Amino acid sequence: MIKQLTGANRAITVTLCLQMRRQISLCDLRLEGDNKTVLANHLESKKRKLGKLPPVYPNGWFALLESSQLGKGQVKHVAALGQNFAVFRTNNGTVRILDAYCPHLGANMAEGGRVKGDCLECPFHGWQFRGSDGQCDYIPYADKVPHVARTKTWKSCEANEIIFVWYHAEELEPHWQPQTNSHVSNRTWRYQGRNEFLINCHIQEVAENGADSAHLSAVHGPLIFTKIAHFFSAFARHSWTNVNWTPHKSFLESLNSKRTESERQDNENLRHRAYMTLRHRLVLFERFEVLQLDVNVQQIGPGYVELMMHSSLGSMCIFQTVTPMEPLLQKVTHILYSPPLLAPYASLLFLAECLMFERDVAIWNRKKFEKRPLLVKEDKSILAYRRWYAQFYSQHSPSYHSAIKSLQW
Ligand code: FES
Ligand SMILES: [Fe+2]
Repeated sequence: MIKQLTGANRAITVTLCLQMRRQISLCDLRLEGDNKTVLANHLESKKRKLGKLPPVYPNGWFALLESSQLGKGQVKHVAALGQNFAVFRTNNGTVRILDAYCPHLGANMAEGGRVKGDCLECPFHGWQFRGSDGQCDYIPYADKVPHVARTKTWKSCEANEIIFVWYHAEELEPHWQPQTNSHVSNRTWRYQGRNEFLINCHIQEVAENGADSAHLSAVHGPLIFTKIAHFFSAFARHSWTNVNWTPHKSFLESLNSKRTESERQDNENLRHRAYMTLRHRLVLFERFEVLQLDVNVQQIGPGYVELMMHSSLGSMCIFQTVTPMEPLLQKVTHILYSPPLLAPYASLLFLAECLMFERDVAIWNRKKFEKRPLLVKEDKSILAYRRWYAQFYSQHSPSYHSAIKSLQW
């Protein structure tokens, strides 16, 4: 889980790993825990109200795997977004994504299939499908390969050591792409660790947190280690200031009908971005402020976020991915990069981030989606966020009910 295991970093890393194990076990109480917990949670989930939900799979790039999880010549099966993907890496390093089910007799090509050049070979009868366009290239026992023998391909890209798939309900081509962070690509910043959560909520709820400034002091104000050291909570709290959420200006301009078509297209490719800033300080005895951290967040499309954190000791970055595994089951990962010398401090901050995120998860796992929230004017960013996020839905985006139906046998 943690690759850097050197010197002073080790103790923090061990703590961090123990913490991560705890986190993963807390992820999805439907799947884990003792019988009592499962039963209690099952009853709770039956009573849980869903609310009037937006479509469950927005259009955009979604993380399927991390680059380190797919070596050359390997194939992995990933079920997400109502699809079954066979994700494979050719021997020259290119990632390809095909529909996992073979059109011949339906075998799952990601389970036991083999990578042959640019093709994936089905384990059932050995048909080979090209990763580039899904066309069947070779049938070991047939004289001729019929032209109709092809399977669906999915566009993929790799950025910041993450493998993304392009999902679009209208089958439109990608008009933007996750960008590579220069600190990561030139290796001045190194991978320091990751965590993973499974959360029972609608995907839109996760990023809505960024526009919901009022939850910061309520949920993230109490001291992180309060459970361990209750005593300190009376003397210390987290303060969150300079909070601002805004969509990219091209999104606002695109709402302006007076713009010319060429002006519209110039900026169109950045309207999938939104930004948030906030400043953290630890307040001691309501008097002293320490551990200042300025956070610049970029929401890039519906399921990917980059958090740049600037402290007096240096900067670091967390990549957050959110992928719908099922209509109301989100897989969230956080991946930490920092300069090597900052690794112990970055790991400590990452632990704090995990604990803070757990608090959000506890809310998301039990809440209902409120289509018409009762808001005050200080909540106005939430509405702005919802207007911005709506750009990722289109006419054929699957509803909760249609997506659930397709999951049933
Ligand atoms: S099912 Fe795939 S080759 Fe027959
Ligand atoms: Fe939060």
